[in-house]
Amino acid sequence: PIAVKKICCIGAGYVGGPTMAMIAKQCPHIQVTVVDINQQRIDEWNSEELPIYEPGLHEIVSECRGKNLTFTTDVDETIRDADMVFISVNTPTKTFGVGAGRAANLEFVEKCARKIAEVSIGHKIVVEKSTLPVRTAEAVKTILSNSTTGASFDVLSNPEFLAEGTAVEDLISPDRVLIGGENETAINALVEVYANWVPRERLLTTNLWSSELSKLTANAFLAQRVSSINAISALCEATGADVDEVSTAIGTDSRIGPKFLKASVGFGGSCFQKDILNLVYLCEYFGLPEVAQYWEQVVTMNDHQKQRFVNRMVRTMFNTVSDKRIAIWGFAFKKDTNDIRESAAIYVCRDLLMEKAKLAIYDPQVKPEQMRAALESVMQDENGELNAMKRELLDNNVQYCDNGAAAADDAHAIAVLTEWDEFKDCDFEAIRDSMKQPAFVFDGRNLLKHADLCDKGFTYFGIGF
Ligand code: NAI
Repeated sequence: PIAVKKICCIGAGYVGGPTMAMIAKQCPHIQVTVVDINQQRIDEWNSEELPIYEPGLHEIVSECRGKNLTFTTDVDETIRDADMVFISVNTPTKTFGVGAGRAANLEFVEKCARKIAEVSIGHKIVVEKSTLPVRTAEAVKTILSNSTTGASFDVLSNPEFLAEGTAVEDLISPDRVLIGGENETAINALVEVYANWVPRERLLTTNLWSSELSKLTANAFLAQRVSSINAISALCEATGADVDEVSTAIGTDSRIGPKFLKASVGFGGSCFQKDILNLVYLCEYFGLPEVAQYWEQVVTMNDHQKQRFVNRMVRTMFNTVSDKRIAIWGFAFKKDTNDIRESAAIYVCRDLLMEKAKLAIYDPQVKPEQMRAALESVMQDENGELNAMKRELLDNNVQYCDNGAAAADDAHAIAVLTEWDEFKDCDFEAIRDSMKQPAFVFDGRNLLKHADLCDKGFTYFGIGF
């Protein structure tokens, strides 16, 4: 058996950082080094202000950093030294060429494989941690087999199932850890790493392709549940049914289960849409157009849900939001993270801006420059340019606020776009008095207490009733 002593992880992002911090914490006998080509990110991991916000993460990093957890840009040296190398780089949707808008861009993964082939000596276990299209390991193996250093390699697939916002919890007690591979010895080496804290019955081993495909499938199923309940929310609004009541009623059926049945303004995050589109692309590639169309509807429904939300706001506010101040509560794609990738808030804000609304945005963890950059990027044309009208809207019609009450001050409406806990405990009477009347609330997360807000004189709209 191979006993892993040194781990290198390429990619110090939302996955690489927390997963490696957890391995370092649980395995004091293993030296864990996270490398990245982004100097600023590495500097942040070495500072008191980590590049990502996750409850409990700071404590773990502080505990292990300087002992068996290191963050560095010294990529070559760290790979050469390691017994096991994780590839945890980004795999965004391709924006150009064949498969643009659907296929995963595997440029960064391929560069990692080439780098590992170039600098390795001896034997290494290479672990795919990034979410990858099924059969990527084939390409990784081919690249590694062309190494001219005499090194030998095993390739494993070990997709990550953590959810942002609960990364630490998910890593401490995962529902399962999935390890796909061909070589028993290599699989066991990784099993033994996780067995330091994960019960053995939760360590699932499969062949490489099942492991790669399971990650895309898991995300497709999760997103499909959200789109399914969101589709029903539209029907609820049309008929007088209440989607939260419907969710409870169906979720108590043990075959359906209660989780991931919350209607909302739509799912966001870097993964769901990207992974489904990747699945759609794969189905088309393998000659399965009906299967592709089936999954694509999940994304179509999600886009529809965001548009429906904005349309309802405009329609309710007497068919115009032009020049009206609207408080945007929350910009992150979900609570307890500072990640805004594909956040529904970006698209809702863009569409409200195009209606010439004046936005007052507040999020407890997202910095104004992040929000500005995200809005700019969705308002640019195909050449990456922002026309004068849109630039003016971004400059003059968006204000970034320090708290929810400040955003709501003098506003016609509040739009709740992220389910941050702090929004539940606001002084709603004071907020109502500071707003224009009627004071509208559009709760895109069904977060606030409906009856209570109505009692306090708000005109309240949630999702799906
Ligand atoms: P990220 O964008 O936060 O981090 C990726 C990092 O890799 C960046 O810091 C980038 O500079 C670095 N990088 C890129 N190319 C490199 C190279 N050649 N050498 C060294 N560093 C390089 O991405 P994130 O969110 O951590 O995702 C990574 C993978 O994990 C993706 O495939 C994603 O689909 C998957 N995943 C993400 C989850 C999430 O919640 N964010 C959950 C589960 C899987």
